[in-house]
Amino acid sequence: MVEPTAEALEPVNLRPKVVERLAYGEAAPIQTKITMSVEGLSAFYGKFKALEDVSLDFHQQNVTAIIGPSGCGKSTLLRCLNRMHEIIPNARAEGKVLLDGEDIYASNMNAVLLRRRVGMVFQKPNPFPSMSIYDNVASGLKLAGKVPKNYLDEVVERSLGQAALWNEVKDKLKQSAFDLSGGQQQRLCIARAIAVQPEIILMDEPASALDPISTLKIEDLMVELRKEYTIIIVTHNLQQAARISDRTAFMLGGEDRIGHLIEYASTNVMFTNPTDKRTEEYVTGRFG
Ligand SMILES: Nc1ncnc2c1ncn2[C@@H]1O[C@H](COP(=O)(O)OP(=O)(O)OP(=O)(O)O)[C@@H](O)[C@H]1O
Ligand SMILES: [Mg+2]
Repeated sequence: MVEPTAEALEPVNLRPKVVERLAYGEAAPIQTKITMSVEGLSAFYGKFKALEDVSLDFHQQNVTAIIGPSGCGKSTLLRCLNRMHEIIPNARAEGKVLLDGEDIYASNMNAVLLRRRVGMVFQKPNPFPSMSIYDNVASGLKLAGKVPKNYLDEVVERSLGQAALWNEVKDKLKQSAFDLSGGQQQRLCIARAIAVQPEIILMDEPASALDPISTLKIEDLMVELRKEYTIIIVTHNLQQAARISDRTAFMLGGEDRIGHLIEYASTNVMFTNPTDKRTEEYVTGRFG
């Protein structure tokens, strides 16, 4: 049997959460506080410059999608936002990234604490092996020190609930996280990310390894989580960006492979009336 694609399932698009999003996103995105500001950011791998002079703001209670062809620097940009970039040998960044006005690259910024405030979900679900479902979600809080069991129980239930996984796992919390399906593992990773109550959640193609039904669940989840968090998602799925995001950033690498931010606007504008010809070519599928 041929697996249906997410596009083929388009009628499912009339899911209440997405309709709610569309109603909400019809006009310009809601004007909320800027949680993170990127100013003149460049990123390097050794001598190679992967990103040049990127500046943009991310807003609370908004989903911002980052789109662009493979290799244009989307993952690099995301990793610069919680200093995961610097973990890569010889990688470095220049410029400013402000979280609530504080420079995350300042010498007094603790990178471990920063990553609790700016959580990340990866393309491939990566639950901690040899840990139960419960311990995966509780792990971040346990690291922070001794926490009363009943408080942990509460956080685990709330986080799994927010990640739309609680009903599926509530009777098997002590089982290995590896017993879950790929889509469930990804929701578990989202639950783990929100358990420490971050301000921002970065997601790098979180649904690209999932089947269409799990993908739709993750999309609904983002629409739901948006009420509380700033969500920044990299996606190759333009329909997904159009469905779930409030703002869209389009990136492109030049002949020299250096990635640039080409255009950044509300998702409605980006998909219906972009300013730059290259954005129009990309979102209409004539490019990339
Ligand atoms: N660890 C690394 N070491 C050296 N170069 C790297 C490394 N990671 C990425 N690059 C290079 O940096 C550029 C941007 O890569 P990046 O992974 O950010 O692109 P991307 O837009 O996320 O691509 P994709 O859509 O394929 O995931 C590419 O030219 C890539 O080859
Ligand atoms: Mg990438």
